[in-house]
Amino acid sequence: MAVPAPGMPEHVTIYEVGPRDGLQNEQELVPTPVKAEFVRRLLAAGLPVVEATSFVHPRWVPQLADAADLVGSLVDDLGDHARALPVLVPNERGLDRALELGMRHVAVFGSATETFARKNLNRGLDEQHAMFAPVVDRALAAGADVRAYVSMCFGDPWEGPVPLAQVVDAGRRLLDLGASQLSLGDTIGVGTAGHVVALVEAFGDAGIGPERLALHFHDTYGQALSNVQAGLRAGITTFDASAGGLGGCPYAESATGNLATEDLVWLLDGLGVGHGVDLASLVATSTWMAGQLGRPSPSAVVRALGSGTAQSPT
Ligand code: HMG
Ligand code: MG
Repeated sequence: MAVPAPGMPEHVTIYEVGPRDGLQNEQELVPTPVKAEFVRRLLAAGLPVVEATSFVHPRWVPQLADAADLVGSLVDDLGDHARALPVLVPNERGLDRALELGMRHVAVFGSATETFARKNLNRGLDEQHAMFAPVVDRALAAGADVRAYVSMCFGDPWEGPVPLAQVVDAGRRLLDLGASQLSLGDTIGVGTAGHVVALVEAFGDAGIGPERLALHFHDTYGQALSNVQAGLRAGITTFDASAGGLGGCPYAESATGNLATEDLVWLLDGLGVGHGVDLASLVATSTWMAGQLGRPSPSAVVRALGSGTAQSPT
């Protein structure tokens, strides 16, 4: 039964990152056909956006070295629709690879902290923006849409708590380059609800409203759903999540799984907030994927419903 709570939007967009953020940290290589099946099943479950892969350096993220083959396989199956799936590109080389395949949605990913920028991109903060500027320019000129991520928006394993102004500065620079949406990442999952509200307000004070922001939570300390509720009340209507709670970042110590899409869907269903995703088929997909990876999903909702019994919040 849905019991609406005050201050909630009618509908939100779930931005599914399982095939990219969820799989990028897997040590055992997942076969390309399994990844393709994962993407297809997520789309079939009603997810409106499924980030498919990354065109990063294959030595940095070996799991996603098959990005071009995966896209090719998806185009074979889904036709041109596959080219609308977003992909990560860190630099012009990554953009070239994505544009050669006709991709129309790309995402750059910056850091709010100097240390993580160096560890993840081999660049300092100023250098990361210099690297992204031609990527965004050329992507827009090619007619592609650009999303921008900011990582370490709440805390950083090397630098500790990250000041709000530092996050706003990094985010504003990415939007100024021409990104259409900014996804604020709690890469190591240390954020709590008040901090979420304060960050959204700090962006608002800088003239960047919640309609331009998405929130990207990792559930390391069990705060992701509480943080989603804070975000919903603050006017955010796009939330990133990973089917089955897969994920982690290979270059961030202590980054564990993302917010599980099923857990997010359960919360939204209970609140009566629309999202368009079929929970039963999503759970079936994550149960299947857990079988492929050889370990159970960390998602509470997948564990509760994995038997296949249909349930809804009561
Ligand atoms: P670099 O070593 O500084 O690269 O890495 P470079 O620019 O010096 O180039 C060296 C060689 O690599 C050159 O080849 C390039 O062509 C090649 P050579 O001339 O020596 O033969 N090269 C590439 N090849 C294929 N694809 C490319 C590419 N780029 C260069 N794209 C680089 C710099 C940015 C490439 C590297 O640091 C990298 O790939 N980093 C990606 C790390 C990553 O993917 N991390 C995980 C995603 S971020 C995340 O998960 C957080 C997020 O989820 C939000 C959150 O949770 O906060 C988004
Ligand atoms: Mg992430």
